[in-house]
Order: sequence, then C-alpha cells, then structure tokens
Amino acid sequence: MHKLTIHSAGKVSSANVSRETILLDAIRYRGFMIYAPCGGKGSCGKCEVYVRDEGYVTSCLYTIEEDIEIVLPEPVEANILAAQYEYSRILPLSPGPASRLSDSPYGVAIDLGTTTLAFHFIRLATGTLLETSTVLNPQAKYGADVISRINYCITVPEGLLTLQSELIDVFNLQLSHFTEKSNISPDDIVKICICGNTTMLHILLGVNPGPLAFVPFTPVFCEERIVRASELKLFCNPLGEVKVLPSLAAYIGADIVAGIASLAPVPAHKNFLFIDVGTNGEIALITADRIWCCAAAAGPAFEGANIEHGMGALQGAINIYYGQNNFQTIGDTPPVGICGSGLIDLVADLLRSGYVSADGYMEEKFLVVPSERSGNGTAIYITPKDIREIQLAKSAIVSGINILLRRTSLTVDNIDALYLAGGFGNYIRKESAEAIGLIPTGLSEKVIPVGNTSGTGAILAVRSEKFDRYVSETLDSMEYTELSDDEDFALQFAINMGF
Ligand code: FES
Repeated sequence: MHKLTIHSAGKVSSANVSRETILLDAIRYRGFMIYAPCGGKGSCGKCEVYVRDEGYVTSCLYTIEEDIEIVLPEPVEANILAAQYEYSRILPLSPGPASRLSDSPYGVAIDLGTTTLAFHFIRLATGTLLETSTVLNPQAKYGADVISRINYCITVPEGLLTLQSELIDVFNLQLSHFTEKSNISPDDIVKICICGNTTMLHILLGVNPGPLAFVPFTPVFCEERIVRASELKLFCNPLGEVKVLPSLAAYIGADIVAGIASLAPVPAHKNFLFIDVGTNGEIALITADRIWCCAAAAGPAFEGANIEHGMGALQGAINIYYGQNNFQTIGDTPPVGICGSGLIDLVADLLRSGYVSADGYMEEKFLVVPSERSGNGTAIYITPKDIREIQLAKSAIVSGINILLRRTSLTVDNIDALYLAGGFGNYIRKESAEAIGLIPTGLSEKVIPVGNTSGTGAILAVRSEKFDRYVSETLDSMEYTELSDDEDFALQFAINMGF
C-alpha cells in the first residue's frame, strides 16, 4: 500500500492505495472531479495533475509506485445555461397529482447533459422558478462523449452502476443544497422531470446503454418512464414522481424532443431549422406537417475535447476572439483555454488572414496567448490537428442540414429561421459560423439563439401536465434519418470538409 495525499479546493485528504494503481483511477475512486475527456486512454492529455517533487503528470498514464502528494486543478463552475422564455410555450399551471403529496410542494426540472447538468427548482403552488444551478457532469472523468461512457459501462464490471451512482450523488447534492438553503423539508420535493440524451437517460435508470453504440443503434427504451423517487434513492419525498421524458431514437433524446415541443409557434416561421450543438449535433427541420431530424456525429470538438487547448464554456475559456490576439474570456479571468465559440471565431479569423487555407491547410501551429499572459503559465495554441477536428465537426453538421433540406426538397431560401439551442447558441458569433461553413451561406442572418431548450422543456413538464400533449405531438411528427444509411452523406461530408 502507498499513501496518496490529495490537495483539492483548499482541503487536504489522504488515503491508502494499492501498489500500481493508476492515479486517475485513485482520484476518481475517491470522488474527486477531474476532467478526462478521452476516458483515460492517454490520448487527450487533459487529465494532468501536479505531483509534488515531480511536476505535472498525465494521471491516466501514471502508476502509483510510492507515497505521493498531488494537487488537483482548481474546480471550475459550469457556465449557467440560459433558459429562455421568449420562444417557449406558456402553459397553465397544472403540476398534477404529485403536488398533493405536500402542503407546500416543490418540483425540480433537470437537463441531464453529457457535459453539464442544469437544475431548476420550482414552487409548484405558483410555478415560480426559484433557483437554477449548473454543475459539470461528474461522469466527465470517464470520457467526454457518450461513446466513452457506454464503453465504460460495457467493459468495466459494475461500470453502469458506477456511472449511475455518479448521477444520483450529484442529484442528491443539489437537492440537499436547495432544501437546506430554502429551509424546506426534502419531503416537500414531490416532482422531478428529466430531459437528456438517450444514453444519459439509460444510465440514470440503470439500463444497459450498450445497444446504443452498435448498429442498428436500438435503445432499450424510448418511451416516457415514471418511477418513484425512492427507487432512485433520491433525497426528496420517497413517493415523489420522477418523470423521464421520452426520446425518439438512440441519438435523438428527450432533450431534443422536449426542446422542440417547448417552442411556441411563430406564424412567420413556417419552415425552420432547430440545431443543438452539444457533445453531438442534433438537427431538426420543422415543416408544417413533419419534423425531419438527424444526429450528426460532430464529436465534442466544439465543447473543447480533442482540441489541444480546448475546454468547455467554463471560467477562463476564450469565448470570443476578435482577431490579432484580442479576445474575451468567460468570467473575464486570464485565459486557460478556448471553448467552442472562441474556436469558431479563431478559425474564421485565421481563414480571413490566410493563415489557414480553404482546404484547411495550416503550416504550423498558431500562438493565441503567450505563456506570460495565460492564466496557468501555459501558452495557448491552435494546431493543424485542431483545424482538422473542427473541419470534421462542422462538416458533419452542415452535411446533416443539407441531407434534411434535400429530403424535403427545400432550399436555404425556404428556411425562415435557424433556432440555435444550447449554451453554444448564446455565445456563437453568426458571421464566424458562416465564415467557417458551420452554417450554410444565407442562414446566418436567420439565426435565433433559443437557449437551453432541453431545460425549458423540463421546466414546462414540471409546471404543467398539459406539456405531455405537445411532447406526444412532437414525437408523432418526427421522422428520423440515420445519416450513415444515407447514400449522399459520404459525398456531402467530403465536400463540406473545406472551408
Ligand atoms: S490523457 Fe488522460 S484522460 Fe485523456
């Protein structure tokens, strides 16, 4: 046995670990948050920790062979994912029978994202949204994308249970914070509605997500599921209702279904696109009678994974790049990396200046921030490999848009609006997105950021049983296209790789 001493967030703890334990596993096992987007494969280089007397090490490649003392990176807050109301339905308050479980009932709407979890606490007697909190998905230490998480469930004994427990623990932490702060009893929390992608919902309910990773990508369940809070061991009323909203397919989850259902009709928008660029890119083309949708395997590049100095939309991330090494960071703190919107600006600028050619060629890496200006003493670059990752991601999305347009015989001119969902949609600069070809030419002036529609859908589900009808209607109208089965997709993908 060796002694492992961990310094994290101003606290020190120590534990005995077996010889030859991998450091990342030891950190995970003790419940500390560490960003490990490649899931411990040693390929992303982002799971660095400081080992006293040795310096920074890649924790997933480091074997503990003696007593060591480590310092974990400062925990960072997830950026608040804005809920928006301008484009969302207004429904009468009707939270349903669960609200009768308490004289002073409360509900919680949860957007269960692969990267970020958003919790919205609601007083059910009035429908008032009292508080929103966001945290990073603690499963990030097992990989940035859903495939890494599914692999973990498949390949590690008890892997599914571990990932499920990570979620339940973070749910309970947030529930406890809220009840303590509001001075209410956990029994007063009687209704919880959850939207998320299909993989996250499987893991939450302890259902094996394995089939989602293999052809024909068949989910074990898509339908709405309602369980008692006690079944998930949640810190709330044990009889409380936990509703998991329905998904459409393996890669069109309840986050997209409820997100589209949450949108109020706008008479001027007869045909419009809805795109949620998160860890994946889901695209829907909404017409008068059908909703055509697909999921583009964009990968998590726009969330900073697979990008050398990429990061999520967290404090210290460059989220706007103005050119000539001028930029803005989230929280106005010294820069420590670049998030998706900053990357798009940066690539657009490098294209304009000719540093990157139209086919994506870049002779050498570009220095964005010298080490003396950065927040962690490390220079921030964008590399030729990063450019390649962005080409792959944007090509997947724009090819998906083109395939849906072709299926409906519509053109860009027939599209009245492009609703951009997710945190990404709030920060992205439309002209940069069009410059790199992420948005087809002619659509940038039609972009409308609609915020975290998955969270808005969960809020509507908590407040009103009437939302069920809109969710059902949305599901019934949806027509899913599996892009990998589409004969034009490979050609489209190759064409759209260029800028
Ligand atoms: S290199 Fe360690 S998690 Fe990616």
